[in-house]
Amino acid sequence: MKLQSDFLVIGSGIAGLSFALQAAAHGTVAVVTKRDIAESATNYAQGGIATVSSAEDTFDAHVQDTLVAGAGICHEDVVRMVVEEGPQVIEHLIQWGVQFTKNGGVFDLTREGGHSARRILHAEDITGREIERALVQAALAHDNITIYENHIAIDLITESKVLKQSLEQNRCLGAHVLDIAGGTVKTFASRITLLASGGAGKVYLYTCNPDVATGDGVAMAYRAGATIANMEFMQFHPTTLYHANARSFLISEAVRGEGAILRRRDGTAFMERYHPLKDLAPRDIVARAIDNEMKTYGDDCVYLDITHQDPDYVTSRFPNIYQTCLDFGIDMTRDMIPVVPAAHYLCGGVAVDGNAETDVKHLYAIGEVAFTGLHGANRLASNSLLEAAVYAGRAFGHAVTTLQSEQFTSPEIPEWDCGTATNSDEMVVVSQNWDEIRRFMWNYVGIVRSDKRLDRAMHRIDLIQEEIEEYYWNFIVTSDLIELRNIATVAKLIVSCARLRKESRGLNFNIDHPGVDDVHWKRDTFIKKRF
Ligand code: SIN
Repeated sequence: MKLQSDFLVIGSGIAGLSFALQAAAHGTVAVVTKRDIAESATNYAQGGIATVSSAEDTFDAHVQDTLVAGAGICHEDVVRMVVEEGPQVIEHLIQWGVQFTKNGGVFDLTREGGHSARRILHAEDITGREIERALVQAALAHDNITIYENHIAIDLITESKVLKQSLEQNRCLGAHVLDIAGGTVKTFASRITLLASGGAGKVYLYTCNPDVATGDGVAMAYRAGATIANMEFMQFHPTTLYHANARSFLISEAVRGEGAILRRRDGTAFMERYHPLKDLAPRDIVARAIDNEMKTYGDDCVYLDITHQDPDYVTSRFPNIYQTCLDFGIDMTRDMIPVVPAAHYLCGGVAVDGNAETDVKHLYAIGEVAFTGLHGANRLASNSLLEAAVYAGRAFGHAVTTLQSEQFTSPEIPEWDCGTATNSDEMVVVSQNWDEIRRFMWNYVGIVRSDKRLDRAMHRIDLIQEEIEEYYWNFIVTSDLIELRNIATVAKLIVSCARLRKESRGLNFNIDHPGVDDVHWKRDTFIKKRF
Protein backbone atom coordinates (compact mmCIF):
# COMPACT_ATOMS: atom_id res chain seq x y z
CA MET A 1 0.00 0.00 0.00
CA LYS A 2 1.29 3.46 -0.89
CA LEU A 3 0.43 6.60 1.09
CA GLN A 4 1.42 10.08 -0.02
CA SER A 5 1.80 13.17 2.15
CA ASP A 6 3.68 16.45 2.06
CA PHE A 7 5.30 15.76 5.43
CA LEU A 8 6.11 12.42 7.01
CA VAL A 9 6.86 12.66 10.74
CA ILE A 10 8.38 9.62 12.45
CA GLY A 11 7.76 9.93 16.19
CA SER A 12 5.10 11.61 18.30
CA GLY A 13 6.86 13.34 21.20
CA ILE A 14 7.39 17.08 21.58
CA ALA A 15 9.68 17.20 18.50
CA GLY A 16 7.37 15.38 16.11
CA LEU A 17 4.09 16.88 17.24
CA SER A 18 5.24 20.49 17.51
CA PHE A 19 6.66 20.21 13.98
CA ALA A 20 3.46 18.51 12.75
CA LEU A 21 1.23 21.19 14.25
CA GLN A 22 3.12 23.93 12.43
CA ALA A 23 3.54 22.02 9.16
CA ALA A 24 -0.15 21.14 9.02
CA ALA A 25 -0.94 24.75 8.09
CA HIS A 26 0.99 24.16 4.84
CA GLY A 27 0.23 20.62 3.78
CA THR A 28 -0.76 17.10 4.70
CA VAL A 29 1.11 15.47 7.57
CA ALA A 30 1.39 11.75 8.30
CA VAL A 31 2.62 10.98 11.82
CA VAL A 32 3.92 7.45 12.25
CA THR A 33 4.39 6.20 15.80
CA LYS A 34 5.35 2.80 17.19
CA ARG A 35 2.82 2.45 20.00
CA ASP A 36 -0.05 4.76 20.90
CA ILE A 37 0.41 8.41 20.12
CA ALA A 38 1.39 9.53 23.64
CA GLU A 39 4.02 6.83 24.16
CA SER A 40 7.22 8.79 23.78
CA ALA A 41 10.13 9.84 25.99
CA THR A 42 8.49 13.28 26.26
CA ASN A 43 5.62 11.70 28.14
CA TYR A 44 7.99 10.53 30.88
CA ALA A 45 10.02 13.74 31.26
CA GLN A 46 9.67 14.85 34.84
CA GLY A 47 11.99 17.80 35.42
CA GLY A 48 10.94 20.46 32.96
CA ILE A 49 12.01 22.84 30.25
CA ALA A 50 14.85 25.28 30.84
CA THR A 51 14.37 28.85 29.67
CA VAL A 52 15.26 32.31 30.89
CA SER A 53 12.15 33.94 32.29
CA SER A 54 13.01 35.64 35.56
CA ALA A 55 14.52 39.05 36.19
CA GLU A 56 17.33 37.39 38.19
CA ASP A 57 18.39 35.28 35.22
CA THR A 58 20.11 36.12 31.92
CA PHE A 59 20.64 34.50 28.52
CA ASP A 60 24.38 34.76 29.15
CA ALA A 61 24.07 32.72 32.34
CA HIS A 62 22.04 29.99 30.62
CA VAL A 63 24.55 29.91 27.75
CA GLN A 64 27.44 29.70 30.20
CA ASP A 65 25.87 26.86 32.22
CA THR A 66 25.23 24.90 29.02
CA LEU A 67 28.82 25.39 27.85
CA VAL A 68 30.25 24.33 31.22
CA ALA A 69 28.12 21.16 31.33
CA GLY A 70 29.08 20.40 27.71
CA ALA A 71 32.76 20.17 28.70
CA GLY A 72 34.26 22.33 25.97
CA ILE A 73 32.63 21.02 22.80
CA CYS A 74 29.20 22.65 22.64
CA HIS A 75 28.72 24.77 19.52
CA GLU A 76 28.45 28.18 21.12
CA ASP A 77 26.44 29.69 18.26
CA VAL A 78 23.87 26.90 18.56
CA VAL A 79 23.71 27.25 22.35
CA ARG A 80 23.05 30.99 22.09
CA MET A 81 20.44 30.54 19.39
CA VAL A 82 18.54 27.86 21.36
CA VAL A 83 18.70 29.82 24.62
CA GLU A 84 17.57 33.08 23.00
CA GLU A 85 14.71 31.48 21.05
CA GLY A 86 13.52 29.72 24.23
CA PRO A 87 10.95 32.25 25.49
CA GLN A 88 9.27 32.38 22.06
CA VAL A 89 8.78 28.60 21.82
CA ILE A 90 7.45 28.48 25.37
CA GLU A 91 4.75 30.89 24.14
CA HIS A 92 3.90 28.40 21.37
CA LEU A 93 3.57 25.58 23.88
CA ILE A 94 1.31 27.69 26.04
CA GLN A 95 -0.82 28.56 23.01
CA TRP A 96 -1.20 24.84 22.26
CA GLY A 97 -2.57 24.44 25.77
CA VAL A 98 0.39 23.45 27.95
CA GLN A 99 -0.14 24.52 31.54
CA PHE A 100 3.04 25.05 33.52
CA THR A 101 2.87 25.23 37.32
CA LYS A 102 2.46 28.75 38.66
CA ASN A 103 2.97 30.17 42.10
CA GLY A 104 1.23 33.44 42.99
CA GLY A 105 0.42 34.04 39.31
CA VAL A 106 3.99 33.65 38.04
CA PHE A 107 5.77 30.57 36.75
CA ASP A 108 7.22 28.44 39.50
CA LEU A 109 10.85 27.94 38.52
CA THR A 110 12.85 24.99 39.72
CA ARG A 111 16.54 24.16 39.59
CA GLU A 112 18.54 21.16 38.46
CA GLY A 113 22.20 20.13 38.32
CA GLY A 114 24.55 22.55 36.55
CA HIS A 115 22.09 25.48 36.50
CA SER A 116 23.27 28.65 38.23
CA ALA A 117 19.71 29.97 38.55
CA ARG A 118 16.16 28.79 38.97
CA ARG A 119 15.03 28.67 35.34
CA ILE A 120 13.14 25.45 34.78
CA LEU A 121 9.44 25.64 33.97
CA HIS A 122 7.61 22.54 35.10
CA ALA A 123 4.16 21.08 35.48
CA GLU A 124 4.37 19.56 38.96
CA ASP A 125 6.72 16.60 38.44
CA ILE A 126 5.04 15.39 35.25
CA THR A 127 6.08 18.15 32.84
CA GLY A 128 6.42 15.85 29.84
CA ARG A 129 3.02 14.31 30.38
CA GLU A 130 1.42 17.76 30.41
CA ILE A 131 3.24 18.82 27.23
CA GLU A 132 2.33 15.57 25.49
CA ARG A 133 -1.31 15.86 26.61
CA ALA A 134 -1.67 19.31 25.07
CA LEU A 135 0.16 18.49 21.84
CA VAL A 136 -1.70 15.21 21.29
CA GLN A 137 -5.03 16.98 21.82
CA ALA A 138 -4.10 19.70 19.32
CA ALA A 139 -2.77 17.18 16.76
CA LEU A 140 -5.84 14.93 16.98
CA ALA A 141 -8.05 17.95 16.36
CA HIS A 142 -6.18 18.98 13.19
CA ASP A 143 -7.73 17.95 9.85
CA ASN A 144 -4.41 17.93 8.03
CA ILE A 145 -2.71 15.52 10.44
CA THR A 146 -3.22 11.76 10.16
CA ILE A 147 -1.83 9.65 12.97
CA TYR A 148 -0.68 6.08 12.30
CA GLU A 149 -0.32 4.36 15.67
CA ASN A 150 1.36 0.96 16.04
CA HIS A 151 3.37 1.61 12.89
CA ILE A 152 7.14 1.21 13.02
CA ALA A 153 9.43 2.62 10.34
CA ILE A 154 11.73 -0.03 8.88
CA ASP A 155 13.96 2.06 6.65
CA LEU A 156 14.10 5.39 4.90
CA ILE A 157 13.60 5.43 1.17
CA THR A 158 16.28 7.40 -0.60
CA GLU A 159 16.74 8.36 -4.20
CA SER A 160 20.06 6.54 -4.40
CA LYS A 161 18.48 3.32 -3.10
CA VAL A 162 15.58 3.57 -5.52
CA LEU A 163 17.82 4.33 -8.50
CA LYS A 164 20.45 1.85 -7.25
CA GLN A 165 23.25 4.31 -7.78
CA SER A 166 25.30 6.50 -5.50
CA LEU A 167 24.39 10.16 -5.84
CA GLU A 168 26.46 13.15 -4.84
CA GLN A 169 23.45 14.62 -3.07
CA ASN A 170 21.18 11.88 -1.82
CA ARG A 171 17.52 12.69 -1.16
CA CYS A 172 14.92 11.19 1.16
CA LEU A 173 11.64 10.18 -0.45
CA GLY A 174 9.82 8.73 2.57
CA ALA A 175 9.96 5.46 4.48
CA HIS A 176 8.83 1.87 4.47
CA VAL A 177 6.75 1.29 7.57
CA LEU A 178 5.44 -1.88 9.19
CA ASP A 179 1.83 -1.81 10.30
CA ILE A 180 2.42 -3.91 13.42
CA ALA A 181 -1.15 -5.09 13.92
CA GLY A 182 -1.85 -5.75 10.24
CA GLY A 183 1.56 -7.30 9.55
CA THR A 184 1.84 -5.41 6.26
CA VAL A 185 4.56 -3.05 5.08
CA LYS A 186 3.32 0.29 3.76
CA THR A 187 5.19 2.77 1.59
CA PHE A 188 4.95 6.30 2.96
CA ALA A 189 6.01 8.64 0.17
CA SER A 190 6.63 12.22 1.27
CA ARG A 191 8.22 15.40 0.10
CA ILE A 192 9.72 16.14 3.52
CA THR A 193 10.62 13.47 6.07
CA LEU A 194 11.25 14.26 9.72
CA LEU A 195 12.95 11.94 12.18
CA ALA A 196 11.62 12.69 15.67
CA SER A 197 11.93 9.17 16.97
CA GLY A 198 13.75 9.91 20.22
CA GLY A 199 16.69 8.24 21.88
CA ALA A 200 18.31 4.89 22.39
CA GLY A 201 18.35 4.10 26.11
CA LYS A 202 17.23 0.53 25.41
CA VAL A 203 20.70 -0.19 24.06
CA TYR A 204 21.63 -0.46 27.75
CA LEU A 205 20.46 -3.01 30.29
CA TYR A 206 19.41 -0.33 32.77
CA THR A 207 17.61 2.70 31.44
CA CYS A 208 14.88 5.04 32.53
CA ASN A 209 13.75 5.39 28.90
CA PRO A 210 10.47 3.89 27.73
CA ASP A 211 10.59 0.68 25.66
CA VAL A 212 10.23 2.66 22.43
CA ALA A 213 13.73 4.17 22.81
CA THR A 214 15.57 1.79 20.49
CA GLY A 215 17.51 4.31 18.42
CA ASP A 216 15.45 3.66 15.28
CA GLY A 217 16.00 7.11 13.79
CA VAL A 218 19.76 7.09 14.21
CA ALA A 219 20.02 3.56 12.80
CA MET A 220 17.81 4.34 9.79
CA ALA A 221 19.60 7.61 9.05
CA TYR A 222 22.97 5.86 9.24
CA ARG A 223 21.81 3.16 6.84
CA ALA A 224 20.51 5.90 4.52
CA GLY A 225 23.93 7.54 4.43
CA ALA A 226 23.44 10.49 6.79
CA THR A 227 26.31 11.66 8.98
CA ILE A 228 26.08 10.60 12.63
CA ALA A 229 27.96 12.39 15.42
CA ASN A 230 29.11 12.10 19.05
CA MET A 231 27.49 8.76 19.81
CA GLU A 232 29.96 8.11 22.66
CA PHE A 233 28.12 10.67 24.78
CA MET A 234 25.31 8.64 26.34
CA GLN A 235 24.12 10.41 29.45
CA PHE A 236 23.47 8.30 32.53
CA HIS A 237 20.93 9.80 34.88
CA PRO A 238 22.34 9.55 38.40
CA THR A 239 19.12 8.73 40.20
CA THR A 240 16.64 6.08 39.14
CA LEU A 241 14.73 4.16 41.76
CA TYR A 242 16.49 0.98 42.84
CA HIS A 243 13.77 -1.59 43.41
CA ALA A 244 13.30 -5.08 41.97
CA ASN A 245 9.93 -4.16 40.44
CA ALA A 246 10.44 -0.49 39.61
CA ARG A 247 11.80 -0.81 36.04
CA SER A 248 14.16 2.17 36.41
CA PHE A 249 11.67 4.79 37.50
CA LEU A 250 13.33 8.23 37.34
CA ILE A 251 13.77 10.30 40.49
CA SER A 252 13.99 13.75 38.95
CA GLU A 253 17.07 15.88 39.44
CA ALA A 254 14.61 18.53 40.60
CA VAL A 255 14.44 16.57 43.88
CA ARG A 256 18.10 17.46 44.41
CA GLY A 257 17.25 20.93 43.11
CA GLU A 258 14.88 21.22 46.06
CA GLY A 259 17.53 20.15 48.55
CA ALA A 260 17.87 16.34 48.46
CA ILE A 261 21.29 14.96 49.40
CA LEU A 262 22.99 11.82 48.12
CA ARG A 263 24.18 9.54 50.92
CA ARG A 264 25.76 6.15 51.40
CA ARG A 265 23.87 3.41 53.22
CA ASP A 266 25.39 4.61 56.54
CA GLY A 267 24.08 8.14 55.94
CA THR A 268 27.38 9.73 54.88
CA ALA A 269 26.91 12.49 52.29
CA PHE A 270 29.59 12.09 49.63
CA MET A 271 29.15 14.61 46.80
CA GLU A 272 31.24 17.29 48.50
CA ARG A 273 34.30 15.10 47.82
CA TYR A 274 33.62 15.23 44.08
CA HIS A 275 32.53 18.75 43.13
CA PRO A 276 32.02 22.19 44.69
CA LEU A 277 28.38 22.16 43.55
CA LYS A 278 27.97 18.92 45.52
CA ASP A 279 24.62 17.24 44.72
CA LEU A 280 23.92 19.75 41.97
CA ALA A 281 27.14 19.10 40.06
CA PRO A 282 26.77 18.32 36.33
CA ARG A 283 25.21 14.95 35.73
CA ASP A 284 28.26 13.12 34.40
CA ILE A 285 30.13 13.93 37.60
CA VAL A 286 27.28 12.84 39.87
CA ALA A 287 26.76 9.56 37.96
CA ARG A 288 30.48 8.73 38.10
CA ALA A 289 30.62 9.61 41.80
CA ILE A 290 27.74 7.24 42.53
CA ASP A 291 29.33 4.52 40.41
CA ASN A 292 32.58 4.98 42.35
CA GLU A 293 30.87 4.92 45.75
CA MET A 294 28.96 1.75 44.87
CA LYS A 295 32.09 0.01 43.63
CA THR A 296 34.26 1.18 46.53
CA TYR A 297 31.80 0.10 49.23
CA GLY A 298 30.37 -2.90 47.38
CA ASP A 299 26.85 -1.45 47.63
CA ASP A 300 24.03 -2.09 45.17
CA CYS A 301 22.77 1.49 45.38
CA VAL A 302 23.15 4.84 47.13
CA TYR A 303 20.38 6.88 48.75
CA LEU A 304 18.65 10.16 48.06
CA ASP A 305 17.56 11.95 51.20
CA ILE A 306 14.94 14.73 51.26
CA THR A 307 13.55 13.82 54.68
CA HIS A 308 14.74 17.17 56.12
CA GLN A 309 12.29 19.09 53.89
CA ASP A 310 8.76 19.97 54.94
CA PRO A 311 6.66 16.84 54.10
CA ASP A 312 3.75 18.94 52.78
CA TYR A 313 6.09 20.71 50.39
CA VAL A 314 7.60 17.42 49.19
CA THR A 315 4.23 15.78 48.53
CA SER A 316 2.81 18.81 46.73
CA ARG A 317 5.94 19.51 44.68
CA PHE A 318 6.56 15.85 43.71
CA PRO A 319 3.16 14.14 43.79
CA ASN A 320 4.02 11.59 41.12
CA ILE A 321 7.41 10.64 42.52
CA TYR A 322 6.00 10.54 46.06
CA GLN A 323 3.13 8.25 45.08
CA THR A 324 5.29 5.95 42.95
CA CYS A 325 7.86 5.55 45.74
CA LEU A 326 5.03 4.93 48.20
CA ASP A 327 3.67 2.20 45.93
CA PHE A 328 7.05 0.50 46.39
CA GLY A 329 6.93 0.93 50.18
CA ILE A 330 9.16 4.04 50.36
CA ASP A 331 7.77 7.17 51.99
CA MET A 332 10.20 9.81 50.71
CA THR A 333 9.16 12.28 53.42
CA ARG A 334 10.55 9.83 56.01
CA ASP A 335 12.75 7.31 54.17
CA MET A 336 15.85 7.72 52.04
CA ILE A 337 15.17 6.64 48.43
CA PRO A 338 17.50 3.89 47.09
CA VAL A 339 18.85 5.03 43.70
CA VAL A 340 21.24 3.91 40.93
CA PRO A 341 22.31 5.52 37.64
CA ALA A 342 20.71 4.40 34.36
CA ALA A 343 21.04 5.28 30.66
CA HIS A 344 18.97 8.39 30.09
CA TYR A 345 19.80 10.60 27.12
CA LEU A 346 21.79 10.31 23.90
CA CYS A 347 23.71 13.56 23.34
CA GLY A 348 24.89 12.51 19.89
CA GLY A 349 22.73 11.51 16.94
CA VAL A 350 21.99 12.39 13.34
CA ALA A 351 24.05 15.46 12.47
CA VAL A 352 21.90 18.43 11.43
CA ASP A 353 22.43 22.05 10.51
CA GLY A 354 20.79 25.08 12.13
CA ASN A 355 17.52 24.23 10.36
CA ALA A 356 17.54 20.59 11.52
CA GLU A 357 18.30 19.33 8.01
CA THR A 358 20.63 16.34 7.68
CA ASP A 359 23.08 15.85 4.85
CA VAL A 360 20.46 13.73 3.08
CA LYS A 361 18.26 16.31 1.39
CA HIS A 362 14.66 16.67 2.58
CA LEU A 363 15.47 14.57 5.65
CA TYR A 364 15.25 16.49 8.93
CA ALA A 365 15.92 15.33 12.48
CA ILE A 366 14.79 16.96 15.73
CA GLY A 367 14.98 16.09 19.41
CA GLU A 368 17.01 13.29 20.95
CA VAL A 369 17.55 11.60 17.59
CA ALA A 370 19.47 14.66 16.36
CA PHE A 371 22.90 16.04 16.98
CA THR A 372 22.74 19.84 16.80
CA GLY A 373 25.87 20.80 18.76
CA LEU A 374 23.86 22.08 21.74
CA HIS A 375 24.78 19.45 24.31
CA GLY A 376 28.49 18.96 23.68
CA ALA A 377 29.92 16.15 25.79
CA ASN A 378 27.16 16.33 28.40
CA ARG A 379 23.65 17.76 28.23
CA LEU A 380 22.58 20.35 30.77
CA ALA A 381 19.40 19.16 32.51
CA SER A 382 16.11 20.25 30.95
CA ASN A 383 17.73 21.62 27.81
CA SER A 384 16.36 18.79 25.69
CA LEU A 385 12.66 19.70 25.56
CA LEU A 386 13.80 23.23 24.79
CA GLU A 387 16.06 22.07 21.96
CA ALA A 388 13.26 19.97 20.45
CA ALA A 389 10.78 22.85 20.52
CA VAL A 390 13.24 25.37 19.06
CA TYR A 391 14.35 23.08 16.24
CA ALA A 392 10.76 22.11 15.42
CA GLY A 393 10.15 25.76 14.53
CA ARG A 394 13.38 26.04 12.56
CA ALA A 395 12.81 22.80 10.65
CA PHE A 396 9.26 23.81 9.85
CA GLY A 397 10.36 27.21 8.49
CA HIS A 398 13.07 25.69 6.33
CA ALA A 399 10.97 22.77 5.10
CA VAL A 400 8.12 25.03 4.02
CA THR A 401 10.49 27.29 2.11
CA THR A 402 11.96 24.20 0.46
CA LEU A 403 8.50 22.95 -0.50
CA GLN A 404 7.60 26.31 -2.00
CA SER A 405 10.85 26.88 -3.85
CA GLU A 406 11.80 23.47 -5.19
CA GLN A 407 10.30 21.24 -7.84
CA PHE A 408 9.65 17.79 -6.39
CA THR A 409 9.86 15.01 -8.89
CA SER A 410 10.35 11.58 -7.47
CA PRO A 411 11.34 8.38 -9.23
CA GLU A 412 8.79 5.56 -8.95
CA ILE A 413 9.16 4.17 -5.43
CA PRO A 414 8.94 0.38 -5.31
CA GLU A 415 6.72 -1.29 -2.74
CA TRP A 416 8.44 -3.27 0.03
CA ASP A 417 9.74 -6.58 -1.28
CA CYS A 418 9.88 -9.34 1.32
CA GLY A 419 11.45 -11.72 -1.19
CA THR A 420 11.45 -15.33 -0.09
CA ALA A 421 11.30 -14.53 3.62
CA THR A 422 9.23 -16.87 5.75
CA ASN A 423 7.73 -16.64 9.22
CA SER A 424 10.33 -17.27 11.88
CA ASP A 425 9.97 -20.14 14.30
CA GLU A 426 13.04 -19.06 16.29
CA MET A 427 12.23 -15.92 18.20
CA VAL A 428 14.84 -17.01 20.72
CA VAL A 429 17.49 -15.60 18.37
CA VAL A 430 15.96 -12.15 18.79
CA SER A 431 15.63 -12.34 22.57
CA GLN A 432 19.12 -13.82 23.05
CA ASN A 433 20.80 -11.10 20.98
CA TRP A 434 18.67 -8.38 22.54
CA ASP A 435 19.74 -9.39 26.06
CA GLU A 436 23.34 -9.88 25.11
CA ILE A 437 23.76 -6.46 23.48
CA ARG A 438 22.16 -4.63 26.38
CA ARG A 439 24.25 -6.46 28.97
CA PHE A 440 27.66 -5.98 27.33
CA MET A 441 26.84 -2.37 26.54
CA TRP A 442 26.12 -1.82 30.24
CA ASN A 443 29.20 -3.69 31.45
CA TYR A 444 31.72 -2.63 28.81
CA VAL A 445 30.46 0.66 27.38
CA GLY A 446 28.82 2.20 30.45
CA ILE A 447 29.75 4.97 32.84
CA VAL A 448 33.41 3.92 33.02
CA ARG A 449 35.07 2.50 29.90
CA SER A 450 38.47 1.08 28.95
CA ASP A 451 40.11 0.29 25.62
CA LYS A 452 39.93 -3.43 26.29
CA ARG A 453 36.25 -3.32 27.22
CA LEU A 454 35.47 -1.35 24.07
CA ASP A 455 37.37 -3.89 21.95
CA ARG A 456 35.46 -6.73 23.57
CA ALA A 457 32.17 -4.99 22.92
CA MET A 458 33.07 -4.36 19.28
CA HIS A 459 34.01 -7.98 18.74
CA ARG A 460 30.66 -9.15 20.09
CA ILE A 461 28.66 -6.61 18.09
CA ASP A 462 30.31 -7.74 14.87
CA LEU A 463 29.29 -11.33 15.51
CA ILE A 464 25.77 -10.41 16.55
CA GLN A 465 25.28 -8.10 13.57
CA GLU A 466 26.25 -10.88 11.21
CA GLU A 467 23.66 -13.13 12.79
CA ILE A 468 20.98 -10.42 12.73
CA GLU A 469 21.58 -9.60 9.07
CA GLU A 470 21.25 -13.25 8.10
CA TYR A 471 18.10 -13.56 10.17
CA TYR A 472 16.74 -10.25 8.87
CA TRP A 473 16.85 -11.26 5.22
CA ASN A 474 15.50 -14.77 5.77
CA PHE A 475 12.47 -14.06 7.89
CA ILE A 476 9.48 -11.77 7.61
CA VAL A 477 10.12 -8.53 9.51
CA THR A 478 8.54 -8.04 12.89
CA SER A 479 8.77 -5.02 15.17
CA ASP A 480 11.05 -6.99 17.53
CA LEU A 481 13.44 -7.77 14.73
CA ILE A 482 13.43 -4.18 13.48
CA GLU A 483 14.23 -2.90 16.98
CA LEU A 484 16.93 -5.52 17.52
CA ARG A 485 18.60 -4.58 14.24
CA ASN A 486 18.45 -0.93 15.29
CA ILE A 487 19.89 -1.36 18.79
CA ALA A 488 22.73 -3.41 17.28
CA THR A 489 23.48 -0.61 14.81
CA VAL A 490 23.33 2.04 17.52
CA ALA A 491 25.50 -0.06 19.87
CA LYS A 492 28.09 -0.30 17.12
CA LEU A 493 27.98 3.45 16.52
CA ILE A 494 28.43 4.16 20.24
CA VAL A 495 31.39 1.80 20.51
CA SER A 496 32.94 3.09 17.28
CA CYS A 497 32.79 6.71 18.47
CA ALA A 498 34.04 5.77 21.96
CA ARG A 499 37.00 3.95 20.41
CA LEU A 500 37.90 6.97 18.33
CA ARG A 501 37.90 9.41 21.26
CA LYS A 502 41.19 8.85 23.09
CA GLU A 503 40.41 11.06 26.08
CA SER A 504 37.95 11.44 28.93
CA ARG A 505 35.55 14.31 28.41
CA GLY A 506 32.05 14.76 29.78
CA LEU A 507 30.14 11.52 29.47
CA ASN A 508 32.96 9.58 27.81
CA PHE A 509 35.20 8.37 30.63
CA ASN A 510 37.94 5.94 29.62
CA ILE A 511 40.39 4.76 32.30
CA ASP A 512 43.10 4.27 29.66
CA HIS A 513 42.83 7.93 28.61
CA PRO A 514 41.84 9.66 31.86
CA GLY A 515 42.61 13.27 30.91
CA VAL A 516 41.01 15.81 28.60
CA ASP A 517 43.01 16.19 25.37
CA ASP A 518 42.14 19.64 24.07
CA VAL A 519 44.84 19.48 21.41
CA HIS A 520 43.34 16.56 19.51
CA TRP A 521 39.82 16.08 20.83
CA LYS A 522 38.19 19.44 21.39
CA ARG A 523 35.88 18.48 18.58
CA ASP A 524 33.02 16.22 17.57
CA THR A 525 33.23 12.60 16.45
CA PHE A 526 31.66 11.98 13.05
CA ILE A 527 30.81 8.69 11.47
CA LYS A 528 29.23 7.83 8.14
CA LYS A 529 28.40 4.57 6.41
CA ARG A 530 30.59 3.59 3.51
CA PHE A 531 28.61 2.17 0.59
C1 SIN B 1 15.07 14.95 35.48
O1 SIN B 1 13.94 15.28 35.79
O2 SIN B 1 15.97 14.72 36.29
C2 SIN B 1 15.39 14.80 34.03
C3 SIN B 1 15.51 16.11 33.42
C4 SIN B 1 16.35 16.01 32.18
O3 SIN B 1 16.93 14.97 31.92
O4 SIN B 1 16.47 17.01 31.48
